[in-house]
Amino acid sequence: MKPDASIADAVKLAGWAKRTQRSALQDLLVATAQPGIISFALGLPAPELFPVEACAEAAARVLASSGAALQYAPPAAALKARIVQLMARRGVRCREEQVFLTAGAQQGLSLALRVIVEPGDVVITETLTYPGFMQVLEPLGVRLVTVEVEPDTGLDPRALERVLRAQPPGCVIYGMPQGHNPLGYSLSVATRGALVDLAERYRAVILEDDAYGRLTYGDAAPALRASSETAVIYAGSFSKTLAPALRTGWLVAPESMIERLSVAKESADINMATLAQRIVVSMLDHMDYEAHVARLCAEYRRRRDAMVDALEQHLADEARWIVPTCGVFIWVELRRSIDTTALLRRAIDDEQVAFLPGAAFRAERGGGRATRCLRLNFSNCAPERIHDGIARLARVVRASSLPR
Ligand SMILES: Cc1ncc(COP(=O)(O)O)c(C=O)c1O
Repeated sequence: MKPDASIADAVKLAGWAKRTQRSALQDLLVATAQPGIISFALGLPAPELFPVEACAEAAARVLASSGAALQYAPPAAALKARIVQLMARRGVRCREEQVFLTAGAQQGLSLALRVIVEPGDVVITETLTYPGFMQVLEPLGVRLVTVEVEPDTGLDPRALERVLRAQPPGCVIYGMPQGHNPLGYSLSVATRGALVDLAERYRAVILEDDAYGRLTYGDAAPALRASSETAVIYAGSFSKTLAPALRTGWLVAPESMIERLSVAKESADINMATLAQRIVVSMLDHMDYEAHVARLCAEYRRRRDAMVDALEQHLADEARWIVPTCGVFIWVELRRSIDTTALLRRAIDDEQVAFLPGAAFRAERGGGRATRCLRLNFSNCAPERIHDGIARLARVVRASSLPR
């Protein structure tokens, strides 16, 4: 097969596809998958906590019931009903007619944007954000505007208002108020209220990504969607609570959007995931989902605490960090100005430990403090490995100012 570079000669690529570069990080991530590496790099759930038995039993039940389970079919109505019940746990009252089933939150974000933006429209993100969302934006030709974000306090309504004032009405604001990726913050109730208020005043739409919303280690504030049916489109997912391989998520959107979303989804993948949707319904019918989520939260909390203990033990002089109350990431800022992209190479080679450098989360090019920051995942490692990995990381950080 010809190497990638020559594809452009054979096939005329779209401008956005040509502009998109494979990041050097991808190669590093392949390295992190090798045995012996302790990886805090990706946001993977703990595989030992997957409800494997419940999933196998549900799949057997669904397939035994009728061959129709493998046929083209409309979205699973029973799943929408279940999601309406689950949304109440996030403080949201909605109707089945407002629920749209997607292949994970990722497809929800993508379809929602495709339906509401045109080339040239303004989409506002924080300066540090989820890179998967930036990939969604890439082909849409929108104008990206960023709002400065503080890792500890999160999206600041005053900073957002300054940005909104300078934009035409009708912007889209992307946010993760609960369990932010990568910063780990969760917004206060007051800040949430202020954000929804702003969206309504400036006729903007908030795209609320709640992928981690149920993984909380304390009280969770209601989702933004609880405060507005029209100014907020909500994206949820079973990836973090059941399993990402089920590729089952949803949007809660104004009813008037649902028909448009169906057309957009049909063009993307017809409605491929009906088997997974039926399996999820059957799992929810037969397992104690709430007890399962509580077990996950208890274990992830233990892992978070193990990581915080290890950071305090090994890196207190070198770094500061924020303890998250939701999600699976800790954002660490090194006190010295060390480029964490270069540090990652050294961490993998010298100490077999991996993380993601802060620069990977910048919405736009530019320096800022992110280059001396790193994101650590704690859900995918047992506490003993977390301690070992942070000790390794601390050795690399300390060695990083020494000549090689
Ligand atoms: C913030 C955020 N949003 C969305 C997603 C996509 O999740 P899903 O597997 O539901 O598509 C992820 C995945 O890690 C994420 O971190």
